[in-house]
Amino acid sequence: MLKIKIAPSILSCDFSRLADEIKRLEGAGADLVHIDVMDGNFVPNITIGPDIVKAIKDNTSLILDVHLMINEPLKLAKRFIDAGADILTFHVEAQENPLILIKEIKKANIKVGLSLKPKTPLLRIKDFLEEIDMVLIMSVEPGFGGQSFMSEVLPKIRALRKIFERDIEVDGGINDKNAKEVILAGANVIVAGSYVFRSADIRKAIESLRKCAE
Ligand code: DX5
Ligand code: ZN
Repeated sequence: MLKIKIAPSILSCDFSRLADEIKRLEGAGADLVHIDVMDGNFVPNITIGPDIVKAIKDNTSLILDVHLMINEPLKLAKRFIDAGADILTFHVEAQENPLILIKEIKKANIKVGLSLKPKTPLLRIKDFLEEIDMVLIMSVEPGFGGQSFMSEVLPKIRALRKIFERDIEVDGGINDKNAKEVILAGANVIVAGSYVFRSADIRKAIESLRKCAE
């Protein structure tokens, strides 16, 4: 079985104390740090650019799991590779020919992920599964933290697990109440933003998610 990895999303952290928040995640046992990049175009929100990703890289040994929610990712991917992304995920809805970008990311010797919005069918990524390290299934409409988990994506996770043996990451609205069904459906990389950062003890929050795999 694949290792369960917990990837707190810094979208819900205190950005005025970013370095401390990243240190806090390290101390609390996070496996990855999930970084949501939004361009005000693919999604209505604007968040983090490559300079901030680089600043995070320079301050942590955690694996940087960079989730691009931007249009034309091909134009900007290199900036995030150079900034230190360890896993670079882009949306299939945003890239006409995903294979070109998959190859470019692989050439940089980092991991590549493809992401799907909740309503995008698996069919859209079927042809690329052999080429990628991870699929990120969105369980909320991308754009904002703190939304409710959409359980209608569970069948998509189950169907994907039947045909894909590598990492399946699920992102959006995950907490200690629903992480178990996400893991049972076949996910092994669990993103959680508001659940982790709004809890009084982030170590306990991360542990509670990991426990859902038992
Ligand atoms: C939403 C982002 C998520 C978000 C998750 O577009 O991709 O990573 O930060 O936050 P929660 O866990 O609060 O839904
Ligand atoms: Zn994300």
